[in-house]
Amino acid sequence: MVQISPVRISETPEWQALAAHGGEMRNVHLRDLFASDPERGLTLRVDGADLHLDYSKNRLTARTIDLLVAVAERAGLAQRIEAMWSGEHINVTEDRPVLHIALRAPRRASITTGGVDVVPGVHEVLDRMSEFARRVRSGEWTGHTGKRITTVVNIGIGGSDLGPAMAYEALRPFSDRSIECRFVSNVDGSDIWEATHDLDPGATLFIVSSKTFTTLETLNNAKTARDWLVSGLGDSSAVARHFVAVSTNAEKVAEFGIDTSNMFGFWDWVGGRYSYDSAIGLSLMVSVGPEAFVDMLEGFHSVDEHFRSAPFRENLPVLLGLIGVWYNDFFGAETQAILPYNHYLARFPAYLQQLDMESNGKSVTLSGEPVDVATGPVVWGTPGTNGQHAYYQLIHQGTRLIPADFIGFVTPNHDVGDHHDLLMANFFAQTEALAFGRSAPQGQPYRSFAGNHPTNTILADQLTPRILGELVATYEHKVLTQGVIWGINSFDQWGVELGKELAQRIVPELTAPETPALAHDSSTNTLIARYRAGRGRP
Ligand code: F6P
Repeated sequence: MVQISPVRISETPEWQALAAHGGEMRNVHLRDLFASDPERGLTLRVDGADLHLDYSKNRLTARTIDLLVAVAERAGLAQRIEAMWSGEHINVTEDRPVLHIALRAPRRASITTGGVDVVPGVHEVLDRMSEFARRVRSGEWTGHTGKRITTVVNIGIGGSDLGPAMAYEALRPFSDRSIECRFVSNVDGSDIWEATHDLDPGATLFIVSSKTFTTLETLNNAKTARDWLVSGLGDSSAVARHFVAVSTNAEKVAEFGIDTSNMFGFWDWVGGRYSYDSAIGLSLMVSVGPEAFVDMLEGFHSVDEHFRSAPFRENLPVLLGLIGVWYNDFFGAETQAILPYNHYLARFPAYLQQLDMESNGKSVTLSGEPVDVATGPVVWGTPGTNGQHAYYQLIHQGTRLIPADFIGFVTPNHDVGDHHDLLMANFFAQTEALAFGRSAPQGQPYRSFAGNHPTNTILADQLTPRILGELVATYEHKVLTQGVIWGINSFDQWGVELGKELAQRIVPELTAPETPALAHDSSTNTLIARYRAGRGRP
């Protein structure tokens, strides 16, 4: 058994050496770093699986990497990686193993926890998903009235929505365009209304995706969808052909009225935000087909292998994690921009927001002490060229340090005219401008670009299912790397509980026919009273 023994990283000589080095590096400019080492663009780069990372346009030297690697070693990163792979309960507050890496393990692999090999179960579900996806795609699975399914509506939220929604958009070039997928997550009734109002119930399949099957938003949306379907088809037995579930909770699925033979399971060792390569990706599999889904899993797996075996200095996710720690903890950076130069990756930053912020937005260590270092950054971004005409101004000339990951591809998904060369010219120009800046003409300080803005460039051949899997696995392992260094649990999410509990308490206060006795603070009481009055309630 590998033991998890978190160290208070700030008290280690490794961290202190890094802090001292941070002081020396604070005023060093990327212009000087490239001038003193013109070859750094050839050395500060790494390949992991099919991804290429150029990290030379960062405010660091080879010594910085040495010191960061020493911190990772001191934090026990290698041991934690092995503990994860060995099925230990590294999610200590929920007392669970963390085995999303098993979701993409090949059939021949063996990954055990508590003496049980989980890989056969993973492939059993994948086989059932493949068969189901094949039947929907071929038209063999029909709706209650015998129609082919032409729209799939995934109902879920958080990890049960963001992953499949992101990947569906990302892999549009690989999808069957005769089946549209829609994604409903918000409990705002407008979401389910917009998703269903123009659909033919007879040709619509709902996938209710919820790990727990207790999430208020998802269950409400699913009930509304069921009412819409039954009233549209005039027969409650239609539910059997139009609803399937993805969950770990068979009892609740049955209680809702979905036949558990139409349920695709997963396991409590998969965190919601680490789950879209499980059955939570069923809508994606229907869209792109089982073969493309398996290609994506192989991409995930190749980065898993790289992460587990490459030395930290040559380990792409580890390096991304270490560079993030460098700015987060020694340069006061509060955010991390994710800037994909690919139209289909529009939802990638939003997906990474949950992955990163729900994982590392923590302020208590694994030993239950308050952290004394800065933890997870605010993650944000949109596709790059659109950002250039919106918020890049602030990155270039504002007062904040905003580390950014630029993600681009050599081969376009659609080679239209000279669009791709123009796109990629912008991609390369931006990191160059951010790094080196430009001095202002005499008397025009507003035209000065200070430069020294750090970027990572991730370059791959083409956005394919395999490469998407590689990108997601890279960021999953980046998040783990940082969580280990900060000494926090990247796999729980207690921070979402309080708001949920208070909302449950407030629901009857909004809907009570008589004036309720409100015992909140004066602000909340007044707002609730105003809302009730607006809704015509006393
Ligand atoms: O927001 C909290 C959370 O538990 C996420 O971690 C999760 O992805 C989401 O809610 C949805 O949960 P479920 O899949 O159980 O409906």
